[in-house]
Amino acid sequence: MAGISSIFTSDMAIDLGTANTLVYVKGRGIILNEPSVVAYHVKDGKKQVLAVGEDAKLMLGRTPGSIQAIRPMRDGVIADFDVAEEMIKHFMRKVHKRSTFAKPKVIVCVPYGATPVEKRAIRQSVISAGARRAGLIAEPIAAAIGSGMPITDPTGSMIVDIGGGTTEVAVLSLGDIVYARSVRVGGDRMDEAIISYLRRQHNLLVGDSTAERIKTSIGTARMPDDGRGAAMQIRGRDLLNGVPKESEINQAQVAEALAEPVQQICEAVMVALEATPPDLAADIVDRGVMLTGGGALLGELDLALREQTGLSISVANESLNCVALGTGKALEYEKQLRHVIDYDS
Ligand SMILES: Nc1ncnc2c1ncn2[C@@H]1O[C@H](COP(=O)(O)OP(=O)(O)OP(=O)(O)O)[C@@H](O)[C@H]1O
Ligand SMILES: [Mg+2]
Repeated sequence: MAGISSIFTSDMAIDLGTANTLVYVKGRGIILNEPSVVAYHVKDGKKQVLAVGEDAKLMLGRTPGSIQAIRPMRDGVIADFDVAEEMIKHFMRKVHKRSTFAKPKVIVCVPYGATPVEKRAIRQSVISAGARRAGLIAEPIAAAIGSGMPITDPTGSMIVDIGGGTTEVAVLSLGDIVYARSVRVGGDRMDEAIISYLRRQHNLLVGDSTAERIKTSIGTARMPDDGRGAAMQIRGRDLLNGVPKESEINQAQVAEALAEPVQQICEAVMVALEATPPDLAADIVDRGVMLTGGGALLGELDLALREQTGLSISVANESLNCVALGTGKALEYEKQLRHVIDYDS
């Protein structure tokens, strides 16, 4: 019987990120990966959803007054409850076509620092989006499983997940969290740093998507050796006369713009190391630190972290997918990983 019912349910694991939402379906892997963005218009005081995900992201920063495109997740937790629920429903329906048969079981990862109220909000959204059961897993554990770290060993491992909204630093041993800390610095903060740098130094106003493009194309955490590095053309509005202007930006400038968020990430790692019991800290010195999340892809961030902390640093394969893959693995191997999933807090 179990075999038959599993054909008709799609139990799933969801990484509900500030920037991207990924859905892993049991037995199939990651089958949805879209920006966590919803566009809606307000009619008679009610929000009507117009677009979700990729389609909605295209509208960010480009909507007329009657339409809003927003990111319902902020700092890794739900900021706009109604809109987040619509988004979860939309994505769950998209992957769960045979919804007439059975309601799926869903595991969602939550930031380590999420409060009980925030956890309940996420659980309720998933249930009202049609889940039969909703389990939660702490994001650093999911990231560690997804990056292939041997988390159940009696050895300390450090994982640093740099997402859109937050950076979570965690030390794990024997499948559980020994120390974790979440700082509100991630890809969004890097984009903001680029925007404010261009405003101050170039009198140029650029939007979020241009800032993100600069970061992902030529962004770097370290000064280039030649003092300049690669450059790219960007467009924005000249703040002096209000007209569109084209300008060039190089890697040295981006490194300067990103110095503060990069420094904050380094400090979070140092603080975690200092707070880790000595034997586990020694394990981390031996085994190094694993970086996951989209922010881990920032150019030379691994090198900058190595220089500042003296630790050896690796960037996980598929760093953008680690949390979803780890949450998915917890779903696939639920018997063995039972203790990391929380069904009822
Ligand atoms: N090559 C790259 N260089 C720098 N940053 C990148 C790169 N690719 C993606 N990013 C950034 O990674 C961030 C998204 O990462 P990720 O999908 O891990 O976040 P998230 O899980 O949605 O957020 P959170 O975990 O904070 O809720 C975005 O800010 C994006 O701009
Ligand atoms: Mg994330």
